[in-house]
Amino acid sequence: MNPRCRLISALFLIATVVPLRAADRNWAAYLGDAGATQYSTLNQINLANVARLERVWSFHTGEAAENNRSQIQCNPLVVDGVLYGSSPQVKLYALDAATGRERWRFDPFLAGDETAARGVNRGLTWWQEGSERRILFSAGHYLYAIDPATGQLVESFGQGGRVDLLLDLDRDTTGLALVATTPGVIYRDLIIVPVRVGEGPAPAAPGHIRAYDVRTGKRRWIFHTIPQPGEIGHDTWPADAWQRTGGANNWAGLVIDQERGLAFIPTGSASFDFWGGDRVGANLFANCLIALDAATGERKWHFQFVHHDIWDRDPPSAPVLCDVMRDGRKIAAVAQTLKSGHVWVFDRVTGESLFPWREEPVPPSQLRGEVAWPTQPMPSKPAPFARQLFTEDEVTNRTPAAREAVLRRLREANPHRPWDPPSERGTIVLPGFDGGAEWGGPAVDPRGILYVNSNEMAWLQHMVPTALFAGGIRPLYAQLCVSCHGPKGEGNAAQNIPSLANLGSRLKLDEIVALLRTGRGVMPSFNFVPEASKQALARLVLNPDAEAPADSREAATSSASSATGSPYVTTGYNRFLDPEGYPAIKPPWGTLNAIDLNTGEYLWRRPLGELPELTAAGLPPTGTENYGGPIVTAGGVLFIAATKDEKFRAFSSVTGELLWETSLPAAGYATPSTYEVGGRQFVVIACGGGKIGTKSGDAYVAFALP
Ligand code: HEC
Repeated sequence: MNPRCRLISALFLIATVVPLRAADRNWAAYLGDAGATQYSTLNQINLANVARLERVWSFHTGEAAENNRSQIQCNPLVVDGVLYGSSPQVKLYALDAATGRERWRFDPFLAGDETAARGVNRGLTWWQEGSERRILFSAGHYLYAIDPATGQLVESFGQGGRVDLLLDLDRDTTGLALVATTPGVIYRDLIIVPVRVGEGPAPAAPGHIRAYDVRTGKRRWIFHTIPQPGEIGHDTWPADAWQRTGGANNWAGLVIDQERGLAFIPTGSASFDFWGGDRVGANLFANCLIALDAATGERKWHFQFVHHDIWDRDPPSAPVLCDVMRDGRKIAAVAQTLKSGHVWVFDRVTGESLFPWREEPVPPSQLRGEVAWPTQPMPSKPAPFARQLFTEDEVTNRTPAAREAVLRRLREANPHRPWDPPSERGTIVLPGFDGGAEWGGPAVDPRGILYVNSNEMAWLQHMVPTALFAGGIRPLYAQLCVSCHGPKGEGNAAQNIPSLANLGSRLKLDEIVALLRTGRGVMPSFNFVPEASKQALARLVLNPDAEAPADSREAATSSASSATGSPYVTTGYNRFLDPEGYPAIKPPWGTLNAIDLNTGEYLWRRPLGELPELTAAGLPPTGTENYGGPIVTAGGVLFIAATKDEKFRAFSSVTGELLWETSLPAAGYATPSTYEVGGRQFVVIACGGGKIGTKSGDAYVAFALP
């Protein structure tokens, strides 16, 4: 540590000797607390000693996928010396938090759930009243209640211990896709539950927000995010949208101001993500931050970040609750970071933005049937934490050949403008589909400083007329499979999506049909597709050049577009890379930022992560793409993994200086937790890898001072 930093650190420690809150030894809520602050009052590990941190235990579940596609995105809970976390196969584990020794495990997929897509799990919910204790754990489309002492189901909850979240949506959702990846949040004896639904051109479930009774599993209230006739916002959609449109779901998680009884809930975009010609209008309450009365579900206020979203630019994480000073007055605030690189700060009670903002005109769409909204809201402050424009000046200069190749492709696409709508010619998406900010969420400390890690990658998106996929089952392939596997089944290596070439050498027809029924890892279940169509899809991918097998579904036989309802499909989520696979934009490709929410000014900002081969070649650290968030502590330390280089790092939250780093058994694409057992502070991170071309892992690794 340099002398200046040492002085600052000493002052910081003195300032925090008087704890701002009673020290909490537990990490009893997803992301730390009901306000998702990702902050801990523990300070045994601090600026002066963090460099001495050592690995004290690792626990391996033995479940990493050999094809490197499994992940662990879980931010584990720690309560009274026991750690609860989920595994790559979405099993729930209880470990001794001081030693990593297994106490019990629970496999939600044992009892006849072959058809449930496992998806991923980002965390758990703890509930306690008197001597009653429960873990609420979601896997596939079920919410389970588990006894934390034994790992057994609480049979009195829902149907034999679980609730089917696909039911009780006030609409027929039979066979539609729905998984619950992000844990719910408790308000008294209620749990408000996030869910993920379809975002493609296929029929999708509506994302209405629901609260369930923690004891019985009964639905206690529902808020219609796609409003029904007579409800506010109904007129921002076509009149019948509430019966057929999907999405507008809270997939990112939520926070609750327990004192005021207010839930702050961000919502996703409406389906289909990239063409909204069948949902013309502003589309309330998609892409909003909604403040609801946590007890009743009654709306208090809302703010829409994107009107009529056609970019998949939905808020990617829960917001954070914090206090900020304004004109000498303390204001209870809620702050939301976005994929676009912006952070919005609102008064929790009034819903007013604490920084000026305005509606800015944005370009119209050239796609058939699309009516882009003419303006979008932009905050004046804080400045965005990721670049907003991909001009020729920003093109990589890693090598002259890389620069030439990128310039060529850049000139073929539409010149980049912010809010450029999807197009057939090609649209630059910057910040990319994965932000800016992502699902790891930001941390905030009691001083009102927000810490957010950010991606800084351009992506390149193309829309293709659905009519190009004419013939038999092909329109259904376009509707359901193209966005991941590509128009010709070529896959997408950067997204870990396999090519379907020479499928016959690996899989038999029946095995493909079974896979479509269940889904696997990131691939969703397509069980809602009639059996004969599943067979036809399997035959098509086995034999793509033969005449496409017929589609048995009546709707699909008349014309290509009737299968999707959308005249366009997207060719997928494609990063804009140079010919060697490095980002097409100049570094930094990942950053860590500290923003003072009191003033809207940056305290510091630095690249996050490095690619060893580029550093060896003489480049300054470039930062890497990163997934999973930071935590910050009263010891003045910020911990974050998240990077592609499979490292775990500690920074000074005061100066941004790197204080410690270590290599993990696999990348930690998750948010760490910190806790105390027996007078010793630990920091733990899930190492699941399995994204952006890095290997999968199956470990939780804990660190402490020697
Ligand atoms: C959200 C992205 C996504 C969509 C949509 C999707 N897949 Fe997949 N698919 C994947 C991923 C990821 C895997 C690898 C799964 C694993 O092994 O973890 C996969 C695996 C497969 C495999 C096995 C490949 C192999 O080599 O083992 C087949 C076959 C397949 N998908 C067919 C389809 C078909 C047909 C559709 C459309 C009905 C479809 N997929 C839609 C992501 C997707």
